[in-house]
Order: sequence, then structure tokens, then C-alpha cells
Amino acid sequence: MLAQYPFQLAPLPYDYIALVPHCDPDTLYVHYDKIYSQDLQTLNYLLTQYPTYQSWSLMQLITGKINLPTTVVNNIKYYAGSVYAHELFFCTLCGSPTPPSGRLAKQIDNSYGSLSNLQDIVKQAALNVLGAGWVWLIAEQDGSLHIIITQNYEIPRISNSVCIFALDVWEHAYFLPYPADISAYINNWFSVLDWNKAEKNYLKAIQSPSA
Ligand SMILES: [Fe+2]
Repeated sequence: MLAQYPFQLAPLPYDYIALVPHCDPDTLYVHYDKIYSQDLQTLNYLLTQYPTYQSWSLMQLITGKINLPTTVVNNIKYYAGSVYAHELFFCTLCGSPTPPSGRLAKQIDNSYGSLSNLQDIVKQAALNVLGAGWVWLIAEQDGSLHIIITQNYEIPRISNSVCIFALDVWEHAYFLPYPADISAYINNWFSVLDWNKAEKNYLKAIQSPSA
């Protein structure tokens, strides 16, 4: 996507049928082409009215001080957060994932004992999201991992950290195939989580002081 306004959709790196049977095409279509796309268009629309902020990056819009009325600031940060979170979400899924390996796999074992333990903690975190939110795995520059819960479209605020993956715990992510069955959704999400992409994100965290 472009680094600043007008923001553009991150291309979906697979077909709508690629995640079957773990994610059905209708859910993926609605989530990508409606929720994510419309939130991105709303962010661009908001910024058309405030040219001062059209040169800001997505992360600047999320974390920076915007000198506008509170309701406008809240809207800009809400939609910027949605764009950021959804881009990470869609770009860290794939139809045929392989188990984690390399530096990230070693750190997961060191931090959580096993991949299974990490998945259990992430799942419990997701089940404890009140309302809508996200569960993130983030890495600091020293390699340490953290599981973070955020509400709505809040983004983890740990400096010099990189988001490894993000689990969408909004009902729109799973209401078509699993009404009220978030547990099934989480289990299927684990089945399409792209650990190769997660490893690349982890290496970015430990190799770049300003990532
Ligand atoms: Fe979503």
C-alpha cells in the first residue's frame, strides 16, 4: 500500500477459495472487500477534508498528535487502526502453512515452552476480549515476545517493536460460518496462519532498531 494518503488496499495474496476449509470464501470476501476496503475508503475520505495530515504515514496517524476536534481525531485513529490491523491480518494467512521454524520457533519455545502453549495462550486471550478487539504477537528488538490484547482498532504501543501477527476478534471475522462460535474460528485461524510471514516479521523486529 502507499505510505500515505490516498491509502490503497494491500492486495490479498491468495484467492478467496485459498483458505477453504478453514475460512469460507464468503467470509473472506466480506471481510476483505467490505470491512477492510470500506474502512480504508473512509480513512481516505476523512483525510480529504484535512490536507495537513495527508502527508502522514499510517503509523503517524495512529500514534501522532492530531490537532483537530476530538471526534475527528477519534475517527481518523479508528479507521487508520483498522487499515493497519487488517493489512497485517490478511497478509499473514495462507492456504498451506508450514510449522514455524528458525529464530521465531526457537523464541516461542524459550518464551512459552512450545507452539501449542503459545496457541493456548493466544486462544484464551481471544476468548477474553470484551466486545471487539485483537490479539497480537509482537516482538521487541531484543527478541522478546509479548501477547497483547487491544480493544476495537487500538494498536499495541510498545516502541521499537514489530507486530508478528494479529488475530481479528471482531464478530465480522467469523459470523457467517460460525455464529457465536469464536472457538471454532480461532482453531481454523491457527490452521491458516502463515509462519513464514511471521518469521519474516520477527527477523525485521530483531534486525532493525527503528522497525
Ligand atoms: Fe476484521
